[in-house]
Amino acid sequence: MVDHAFVDYDLQIGAATVRRSCHPSLLIVMTASASSKTPYRFNLLATAPPDSILGLTETFLADTNPNKMNLSVGVYKDATGQTPILRCVKEAERRLVEGEVTKGYLPISGVPEYCGQVGELIFGGNIDPSRIATLQTPGGTGGLRIAAGFIAGQLSSIRLWTPNPTWANHLPVFASEGVPMESYRYLAADRTSFDFEGMADDLQNNAKPGDAVLLHACCHNPTGVDPTPEQWADIAQILAAKRLLPVIDFAYQGFGKGLQEDASSIHAILKANAEAIICNSFSKNFGLYSERVGGLTLVAADASAATAAMSQLKKVVRCNYSNPPRHGAAIVSTILGDETLTEMWHDELAEMRTRIHQLRAQFVETMKTSGSGHDFSFLLPQNGMFSYSGLNQMQVDQLKNQHSIYIVGSGRINVAGMNEDRMGQLCSAVADVIEN
Ligand code: LMR
Repeated sequence: MVDHAFVDYDLQIGAATVRRSCHPSLLIVMTASASSKTPYRFNLLATAPPDSILGLTETFLADTNPNKMNLSVGVYKDATGQTPILRCVKEAERRLVEGEVTKGYLPISGVPEYCGQVGELIFGGNIDPSRIATLQTPGGTGGLRIAAGFIAGQLSSIRLWTPNPTWANHLPVFASEGVPMESYRYLAADRTSFDFEGMADDLQNNAKPGDAVLLHACCHNPTGVDPTPEQWADIAQILAAKRLLPVIDFAYQGFGKGLQEDASSIHAILKANAEAIICNSFSKNFGLYSERVGGLTLVAADASAATAAMSQLKKVVRCNYSNPPRHGAAIVSTILGDETLTEMWHDELAEMRTRIHQLRAQFVETMKTSGSGHDFSFLLPQNGMFSYSGLNQMQVDQLKNQHSIYIVGSGRINVAGMNEDRMGQLCSAVADVIEN
């Protein structure tokens, strides 16, 4: 029922007083603003807390300690401490600058060849392309946000189950589109291993048929703890049995075991499930962090469903950012469209992956001799950039306040930001906070 009980009030416009009317609830808001003794609306804003990952880098940058170390945000750093531009990227950019003839708008779905290449990288040709709808998105986060808008608008009665823990930005991205969320068990009580039974129990007994499930295809963020291939096959069956929709975050392809190996979880899921949404990112594996380049790929049961889904996804894009930026996607497309550059990329990616494995092993070894008596061998089977150290919030704060070493509050360490030459400094600081 519409409430027509409006009330009158006087509005001061410059020197003039004007009579207006409004709903009483609005008058309460207006009175509250007026009573705060400021005519400015922005003066009433509360300050939001800093972002739990990117906010730490802001604090890090302001830290004057010359020995500071940033192991919070997930970026790869080489032995010189730089986040390098890959050689294949430099060469692709050189070609692009020479050959580029227009800065005209892209289609809503992005660079067409790029979208095909994203599908190739994820599925390796194992899915009928007519069942796939791929959009180029601004990074993996852009893809997730479009997925959230699509789920909220088109699949409105479903809930999204997210692993506990998950990437800190997953919850706000889906919440901002109003997608209802639940969490499933992921990390076991020892905080070092995968709780397969807990996850299976939550999905089998607590999820409703038709709900969506957020999965990290590889290199789980923040833990680095992934299911085994056998567990992925079982997860695929659990999803299929309850018609749960897989929403897969694929931000680290090639950082775990290899490009195809890391995609095998997706292949296992699609063997048992006809539908999925996959959000991938090229920030890490191409080192294109600031270019914001990723994709959203929807797999449908048949071609006409894929076409309809694509039309709805495009509507979500149009009212968010209209169409994506070209440069990052053009770089990826140039590399993947050229055999020599692709080979160069594979080598550079393997180099980053191998070095991250070595850094993780070096950290475990150095901790053994650091005097803390704390065995970090549980990190060795972990995959990708991150490791869950097991440090608690107090120890994380001590690392920051007493040693200027920044890791995420959950105890997540960006292994890809470690440095061979500074491992001693890092490990003695970690030993110090464990002992005290
Ligand atoms: C991270 O988890 O550190 C990265 O994915 C960067 C980010 O945006 O949070």
